[in-house]
Amino acid sequence: MAIELAPLPLPASADQSKFADFGREVKGVDPGSLSPEQLEDVKQALYQHSVLLFRGVNVTPEAQYALTKAFDPQSESYGHGNNKTESTKKSILHPDLKTIPRVPQVQLIGNGVVYDHEGLAEAKLKHPSHTTFHKTQVSPEDEANGVTRFYRWHIDAALYDLNPPKVTTLYGITVPKGSPQVVRYDDGTGEELPVPLGTTAFVSGKTMFDILPQELKSVAVRAKVKYAPHPYVWMAPARALPTGLGIESDGLELPSDELPEWEVERVKVFPVVWKNPVTGELHFEVHPCGAQELLVEPLPQGAKREGALFPDGAHLTNLKEVRELLYKMQRPGIAPPLVYPHDWLENDLVLFHNRGVLHTVVGAFKPDQVRAFHQCNLAASDEPLGPTPEDVQKWA
Ligand SMILES: [Fe+2]
Repeated sequence: MAIELAPLPLPASADQSKFADFGREVKGVDPGSLSPEQLEDVKQALYQHSVLLFRGVNVTPEAQYALTKAFDPQSESYGHGNNKTESTKKSILHPDLKTIPRVPQVQLIGNGVVYDHEGLAEAKLKHPSHTTFHKTQVSPEDEANGVTRFYRWHIDAALYDLNPPKVTTLYGITVPKGSPQVVRYDDGTGEELPVPLGTTAFVSGKTMFDILPQELKSVAVRAKVKYAPHPYVWMAPARALPTGLGIESDGLELPSDELPEWEVERVKVFPVVWKNPVTGELHFEVHPCGAQELLVEPLPQGAKREGALFPDGAHLTNLKEVRELLYKMQRPGIAPPLVYPHDWLENDLVLFHNRGVLHTVVGAFKPDQVRAFHQCNLAASDEPLGPTPEDVQKWA
């Protein structure tokens, strides 16, 4: 039986024209027991539509791991590798992750205290909130009235040593009910976005690239990002912008000699734009918080130099300059009409193309609002593909 695809329910805030290909609900199949043909259809659909939703399904940690692994059979370890570095208290990811003992590639995430869960007697979970990560916060009065922020726009990736997972699966087990909230961008634009409580928000990396003006597309296809070694430890003392789309440049990052041991060969340098292996489309995929340097190739032969930025190439090492350029390229892509805030129901399974979207945690729960999700992604067996020489020729 073929899989059935239906559009995702979009909020009123969404620009429908930008979501024509984005997001599908997969109906009529059990994600834990797909036939080889159905699995192939699901894989194709994920690369074509970036986010897939299965509603009202029962998914064991084993089945979730198996489905996640099917996208990259040679991948094995959790996306952050479960290594010592990421489990040190210094890493900003430390409080967010609890491993399912039976299936260590699957993490329990959420909020509040969860008892007797898949072999965990008691797990204290804390939904990450902007209050501990952004330089400025929403006032307590506004927060009480449901105002919140995007936490941190990101790709699920260690960004050091390991390759970014191809797919992330998120399974909602306990979803607290509560009033909707309003995301305030607080960046001087006055932009706001109404969101369901505890939404996961997604934007398309393809749209982020498509809407750029020509001169920035030209930079994007010629550029690579060099990430900091152990970026989550490096960035831990620093504080984020109010949009959650990168870090304030206040010089607070850990100096490289205070980081855990690292090797130059394990530092990651990725293209700014990643080529979708199924559609061939280009997706703007940068984790702005971990970016440290930008390397821009010169214009290819025959390209128009007039009005071009960095026609002879560039190596940007000034952190503020790197961040400002990335922000200029990424901020348009998170405008309210371009955000899909998923409205979680219990037993929703969401698969997303981690190399084709950016996503973020949103909102704030009270300690007694218990939320339990299973998350799985696997460090990939290969690096993301950049633009081809033809793509560079076309867009530069
Ligand atoms: Fe994530």
